[in-house]
Order: sequence, then structure tokens, then C-alpha cells
Amino acid sequence: MSVLTVASQPYAGQRPGTSGLRKKVTVFQQAHYLENFVQAIFDVVPELNGATLVLGGDGRFYNRVAVQTILKMAAANGVAKVLVGQAGLLSTPAVSCIIRKYAAVGGIVLSASHNPGGPDGDFGIKYNVNNGGPAPEKITEAIYTRTTTINQYKTYTAADLDIDVVGEYTLGNMQVVVLDSVADYAELMADLFDFDAIRAWFAAGHQMRFDAMSAASGPYAKRILEDLLGAPQGTVVNGIPLPDFGGLHPDPNPVYADDLVAHLFGERGSVVSDFGAASDGDADRNMILGRHFIVTPSDSLAVMAANAEKIKGYTRGIAGVARSMPTSCAVDAVAKKRGIACFETPTGWKFFGNLLDAGQVTLCGEESYGTGSDHVREKDGVWAVLFWLNLLAVTGQSVQTIVQQHWQEYGRHFYSRHDYEALDTLAANDLMAHLRRQLPTLAGQTLGEFTVQLADDFAYDDPIDGSRSEQQGIRVVMTDGSRVVFRLSGTGTDGATLRVYLEKFVSDPAGHTVPTQTALAGLIAIAEQLAQIKARTGREAATVVT
Ligand code: G6P
Ligand code: ZN
Repeated sequence: MSVLTVASQPYAGQRPGTSGLRKKVTVFQQAHYLENFVQAIFDVVPELNGATLVLGGDGRFYNRVAVQTILKMAAANGVAKVLVGQAGLLSTPAVSCIIRKYAAVGGIVLSASHNPGGPDGDFGIKYNVNNGGPAPEKITEAIYTRTTTINQYKTYTAADLDIDVVGEYTLGNMQVVVLDSVADYAELMADLFDFDAIRAWFAAGHQMRFDAMSAASGPYAKRILEDLLGAPQGTVVNGIPLPDFGGLHPDPNPVYADDLVAHLFGERGSVVSDFGAASDGDADRNMILGRHFIVTPSDSLAVMAANAEKIKGYTRGIAGVARSMPTSCAVDAVAKKRGIACFETPTGWKFFGNLLDAGQVTLCGEESYGTGSDHVREKDGVWAVLFWLNLLAVTGQSVQTIVQQHWQEYGRHFYSRHDYEALDTLAANDLMAHLRRQLPTLAGQTLGEFTVQLADDFAYDDPIDGSRSEQQGIRVVMTDGSRVVFRLSGTGTDGATLRVYLEKFVSDPAGHTVPTQTALAGLIAIAEQLAQIKARTGREAATVVT
């Protein structure tokens, strides 16, 4: 057994996107492709030499191969200790929790999140830093730059390690600790939530369905909900992580989690649960449902912010809140009323890291089914579900009542996102350029029933480190606060995905029961008028409407 230096050549296109490097599995399977990227991490973060690294992924196809490759490369690059999840499985929030708990220098997350898996699906790799959050752009750019010139990597010649049995091992001079994937995370959840109250809620006969979508949240949800909180066996469905997610698309939204929605709307037999939830590939996203009721992620964040003090881990109050720019302004209304700060950041969880580290915000969330708090530095699907469960348990109210009362108090921010997936990249870029050209003349114009107050390409100046991020989405804001936002996704792997975000504020409760797409019809027409979506993309309708 010895260190081996392998000659290699750079691959183009290894720049991490919104959340790490994501490509088709077949791309990662090219000789030295993964190795180049991993070596670039070790080259850019020399602090890993002699330090502790956390390693795990969402269990998708290629996870195990990548874990063995990275363990050997870590040993060859002088890492002192690797904490790896059993069977190579760690949810993204669990990686964050473990980095923080054991003061690791960083972590490597193997996931393509909500993208489909299997040999023809996607794979991904992301580096997280010592606060437990995704590496800031400065580091991801440095990693990318390194990949453009890399010509060798170091590995260790050794047999594969048995990562299926919890215990301590060695690889050369490196210690490898195979951890119970759930234990540390479950302990943190028990600190934050009133497990007794939730146990009593289940004991009173309330029913819940958690759809793990055959992905990473399964073991976490089963252990916490069924073993620790007394939910009946079978509460968690699709609870075993599968390399191809059972052919499902592990994205918790009403389109891809349609089976769960059907259950909560009584289309799957007589017993309808009181509470439904789903999580994505790596368990950092969440969808919340009540009986015959879907909660939008933007509303979920606002409800959490309004009710935080009712939850054990947040009784001392929240310092402030943050949301990504396309996320609805529902949480802004709560922050305003409570007199706390509300930050608007670009899309991408990494932009919350500095605010959380500086203690400026306690809760943050995104329209893309992500919610989280300062307990880790990733969004956290199971955490969000437990937050809601705790809220249901201490208020004794239904999901629907909680949300509708919230609208009565703060007004309703109707919200929807229309995605046009797998577009021709050139056509999508042209569409965005066409929108940008209109920006200087839009303010003051009347569009349908609206008047444009502001139209710009969103730029963010980080208040903590002063860094500036430009071209983060085109927003057209109306004088009544309604908005149409256009962005190209940074996480897709197939052509370009156009996201159109639509938001309309209605304060009068009499207007709160209108179907969402009806309430937004005027804005949908404006989006088409401004972007010429049909003509430019050749698409008659959105692929996904959330
Ligand atoms: C990931 C990121 C989120 C982001 C989402 C959508 O889940 O962690 O921060 O909101 O992807 O990103 P996209 O660029 O595809 O809209
Ligand atoms: Zn995810």
C-alpha cells in the first residue's frame, strides 16, 4: 500500500453551479473526471492536510464508487481523519451537522439533490467549509480554476474499505470513522423540538405521511418519526434509499410528489392523514401539506417566522430572517410586523451562510422547497417537517387553519413558479438578453392592471463580507408589490431551464380563496408579453408548475 501519483488531463466544464458540480453519471464515469475535481479541492484547501473531513452522499448510483475513490485520495493527500456515513450515506443537513459538531475543516457531499439518479441520471459533488455550509464562490471558483490546469492527482493503492459496518478503520496513516448516519442529527433535532409534545400528538391518534421518495431522508425520518416519536410503522413511505430512487424524481413538489398529494387529498382511500411531508434526494428540501391543503414554501417560511417562539429551540426569539430574491415577500410582512431584519439574497443556500454566521438571521428559506435555521448551514428537510409537527402539537390546530389564520393577519402572497425545462441554451440566453434590453424603459409603464415600479437585474452586496454578486435574476416589481421574476436555473444538467416566478399580494381575506393560477393570470400574461416565451422557446406551456 502506497501513495500513487496519477497523470491526468483537465476536463472542461468543471465549474460548480448553484450547488456544486452536477453532471450526468456518465460524465463522472470518464477516467479521472471525479479524481480531478477532488484533487482540485485538496489543492485549493491545503488546511485539509492533517485535519478532519466529513464524507457522505444521498446514496444515489455512483455514491459508493465515489466514496471509495475519495477515501483513498484523502489518505494520499494527508487528511488525518475522515468521518464517513454508514454505507456512504449522509443527508446534506447531516453533513453540515457533523462538520460543526466535530469541528471538521470541511466536508464533501455527494449528491445531485433532487435530480433523478441511476446510471442514466445525475451525480454531483459539493465541498462544504468549516461552518458546515457550502463553500463560498471564492472557493468554488478557485476549485474550478484549478481544474482547468490540473495534470495529476494523488491516490492510495489499497483495497476498498468496508463502509457498511460502523466502526474505526485505518487507511495508511489516515483514520476512517464509519458513523451511524442518523445518530448525531437525531440528537440535534431532540435539542430543538419538543419530542414529548410530538409524541403526545401521535399518541392522540393523529396521522402523518412522510414520503422519503426512496432517497436519503428515509433512514432519518424512520428513526426520528417512527422510532423516537412513536409514529406508527408505515408513516414513512418510500423509506429505503435506492440508487435510482426507484425511478422516481426525488423532488418534493406537487408535480413529482403527486402520490403524496393524492393521499392528502383523499384520492388514495378513506384515511387521509392530518399532515403530509416529502423530502428530496439529499433530504435538504421539504414540502408541507395538510389535509386537502398544500403549503407553498414561501408561506411555510412566513408561518415559521411568525410562530418561532412556540417551538422549543427558538423560544428566545429570532434575530432576523432571509429569503432568496424569487421567494415571495410573505416573510417580509412577518419581519416588518415583528420589527426584525429581513434580507433578500440571490438564489442559492450559500448566500445565507454569512448572515447566519454573523447572527443576523435565525430562519431562512427559498421558494425552491428549502427552509432552515442557524442550527446547521444547509437547508434542512427533516428539520422543517419537525418544526411543523411541533407547531401542530403545541397549537392543536390543523395545517390549513394555521395558514389561513396567517393570511388573515398578514395578507396572502399568491405565488407560483413556472418552469420550462430542457430548453435550447441559446434560445434561453437570448430570451434573457431580450428581457435585459427592456429593463431601462420598463419603470413607469402600465402593463395590464399593473404599473411597473422597478425593473432590474438583481445584484446582491453581501453585508458581511462586502462581496457583490450580479445578474442574479430579472425582477419586474409592480407598484402594489406584485412581481414577475425571470431566472435561468443553475442546477439543471439538460440544456437550460427558465424559471418564471409570479407573486401577487392580496390583503382582503375575501380574495384568499381564489385558485392560485387564476389569481396570477394577469401576471402570467405579462410574463409572456415581456419574455415572448412561446415564440422564443417553442413551448406552449410550462413543464412544471409549482
Ligand atoms: C438548490 C440550491 C438552492 C436553490 C435551488 C434551485 O437546491 O441549494 O439554494 O434555490 O437549488 O436552484 P436553481 O438555480 O435551479 O433555481
Ligand atoms: Zn437537495
